[in-house]
Amino acid sequence: MLIDTHTHIDMENFADRFDAVVQTAKDYGVEKVVIPGVEPSGFDRIIKLCEEYPDVYGAVGVHPEELNSYNEEAENRIKELLKHKKIIAVGEIGLDYYWDKSQIEKQKEIFERQILIAKQAQKPILVHDREAHPDSFEILKKTNAAETGVVMHCFSGSPEFAQQCINEGFYIALGGVVTFKNAKKVKEVAKTVPLDKLLLETDAPYMTPVPFRGKENQPAYVKFVAEEIAKLRGVSFEEIAEATTANAKKLLKI
Ligand code: NI
Repeated sequence: MLIDTHTHIDMENFADRFDAVVQTAKDYGVEKVVIPGVEPSGFDRIIKLCEEYPDVYGAVGVHPEELNSYNEEAENRIKELLKHKKIIAVGEIGLDYYWDKSQIEKQKEIFERQILIAKQAQKPILVHDREAHPDSFEILKKTNAAETGVVMHCFSGSPEFAQQCINEGFYIALGGVVTFKNAKKVKEVAKTVPLDKLLLETDAPYMTPVPFRGKENQPAYVKFVAEEIAKLRGVSFEEIAEATTANAKKLLKI
């Protein structure tokens, strides 16, 4: 059994075939999925899917690319929704210096505020960190985020940075990139992360793994991520599936 800890199947793309996407995931051995929030107008849809499907879980948070949607109302909404039993984390939150460097201070402030909300609610955080490793790390340490649980989603740092994160007790989530031929750093991370700190994800509809690279991604394909990691580590697929599923269940309480 596998768990896709990060998938955006609440998006329009999947609206008319959500049942089929969940069924295909099950056919591939993917039993549970987590849909992270991106901005407040999407939260209702996530709640609806969580309530309709027993194996769908959600997170709420404001993504760094959506900071303009963060205000007091959004914050109160996040706090309220965190009481929902299927909202199991705050996310995705973090820093993104790839798309927009003009509001770095605001990104940091909003990231920090959401970490504190997660800590109050005692729920883990799903971290989006793109080209902002030192600043993300500093904020995570400063706020003692490890206390509530940290997932470094779509990890894109070096093996050394992975080690730093692991030393703090953070989890490393890997997705389709690990299957890309030229993804040397991520493959190295996949080989060296302790098994008890590893999680799997798709980030669907993005980051589609080989052999479907270039096409639309879906939760079922987390299987290819697990297969590649097993190959890189020279262990069985079952070992990766079991360990990552146990980690997700423990951390996310699903
Ligand atoms: Ni995402």
